[in-house]
Amino acid sequence: MIQWTSVILAGGKGTRMKSPLPKVLHPVAGTPLILRVIESVKKAGCQENRVVVGYGKDLVEQVVKPAGGICFLQKEQNGTADAVKSANIDSMQGFVLIMNGDHPLVSSEDLKKLMQEFEKGSSALAVVTVKLKSPGSYGRVVRNYDEVEAIVEAKDASASTLKINEVNTGIYLTRAETLQELVPKIQNSNSKKEYYLTDLVELCRQKGDSVQALSAHPRVSFGVNSQVELAKATSYVFRKKAKALMDEGVMLIDPRSTYIEDSVEVESGAVIYPGAFLRGKTRIGAFSVIEPNCFISDSEIKESVQIRMGSHLEKATVHSKAVVGPYARLRPDSELEEEVQIGNFVELKKTKMKKGAKAAHLTYLGDAEVGEKTNIGCGVITCNYAADRKKYKTKIGANAFIGSDCQFIAPVEVGDEAVIGSGSTITKNVPSGALAVARGRQFVKENYQVKSSTESHTSKAPSPATQGSSQK
Ligand code: UD1
Ligand code: MG
Repeated sequence: MIQWTSVILAGGKGTRMKSPLPKVLHPVAGTPLILRVIESVKKAGCQENRVVVGYGKDLVEQVVKPAGGICFLQKEQNGTADAVKSANIDSMQGFVLIMNGDHPLVSSEDLKKLMQEFEKGSSALAVVTVKLKSPGSYGRVVRNYDEVEAIVEAKDASASTLKINEVNTGIYLTRAETLQELVPKIQNSNSKKEYYLTDLVELCRQKGDSVQALSAHPRVSFGVNSQVELAKATSYVFRKKAKALMDEGVMLIDPRSTYIEDSVEVESGAVIYPGAFLRGKTRIGAFSVIEPNCFISDSEIKESVQIRMGSHLEKATVHSKAVVGPYARLRPDSELEEEVQIGNFVELKKTKMKKGAKAAHLTYLGDAEVGEKTNIGCGVITCNYAADRKKYKTKIGANAFIGSDCQFIAPVEVGDEAVIGSGSTITKNVPSGALAVARGRQFVKENYQVKSSTESHTSKAPSPATQGSSQK
């Protein structure tokens, strides 16, 4: 098998991003630029992936290393040839793919095709080129008939060279020997006084080696240099995902305003309304409906679930036929079994609701377990966080009835079929089938208002309760 090494150039600061974050760490639809490139080269078949880092190297390394990239430090930004040199060329073998770390739209299929074409030929170097209507600041590909003669940077180009619309994408395929022999010969005699990798073309030609131009889709040349370009790339990736899902039978009411990351899986028959933002390892089952403006991250939503408008879910599991929201919040480790109903302004954290349980309004359940078919009234709170700064559990059994406005001072347990009177503050365990009421008894003093107002009329200073009327 042919050995391929990739060299990804990611040393630049990205001045035009006007951001303190190194450019290659900016996310495109949730995935940093550099990770998109590493994924593509890995999937295309590069066994070893070397990333040249410089600006913000510590941060960039933290992202690159877990993805399997090997980092090489370029001490000063002396140009693209100097960057490649920093990747320890002498230790390379076989074929080498070089590309910029800020080209997020290059897919592994694009690269695989280019690598296969290069393997078939015998050239020392291939430059990947595209034709653009407005070639802008890209390096121009100068040909002599069909042969590629040179790449001339826009800054160094004559008026007639600037008219050439075939440009260098910054992707090169070559052999380790070619780099080992020619990169050290590159000079910095240009307007920027930098070592240009593009000079490899002329050096190859001078030696009599042939240089191939491999043409690619214009998308391949799309590099992110500004926030506007970052947003363009993001929107491209979201639209592509939306199209792929619609092709598989997912109904998107308005694909242009639906934001679904690449890693999300949605089964055919699901319906997604505008403004939904689905992230990470989220899965949405068949016939589930995600209403407008829901944010769902790393969550498992099974079939026939309704996530109603404005709900926020994070690392949650929702089983079939459950209903969540509108305006509900499921925090990490919340699990709703089948047919559970969670209503508006209900927040759950580390809480399991068993089959058919309900909490329909204004409730907080944290570190709790709620049994099958138990009804939690409006305004119920599990007080899970104690003065010792530790979290404690509340366990409520099956078929229990929890009246409105109750608090459970954890740790506490309520048995099956227990009934808790509204407004109770439960501090002790309640056995199965029992009624617990823990609130002040109602106290009624008849004719209280009449008597106190008579008193205020007879005294000089009115009481606060009657002040309003006496000022009239
Ligand atoms: C380069 C090409 C140009 C091509 C364009 C495509 C050269 C001289 N020119 O120009 O022909 O059309 O890409 O996008 O190569 N980098 C380093 N260290 C450095 C300099 C750059 O790591 O010292 C990295 C940058 O972070 C970036 C990549 O190399 O990811 C390209 O560098 P950049 O300065 O953007 O080159 P361009 O001027 O765009
Ligand atoms: Mg560039």
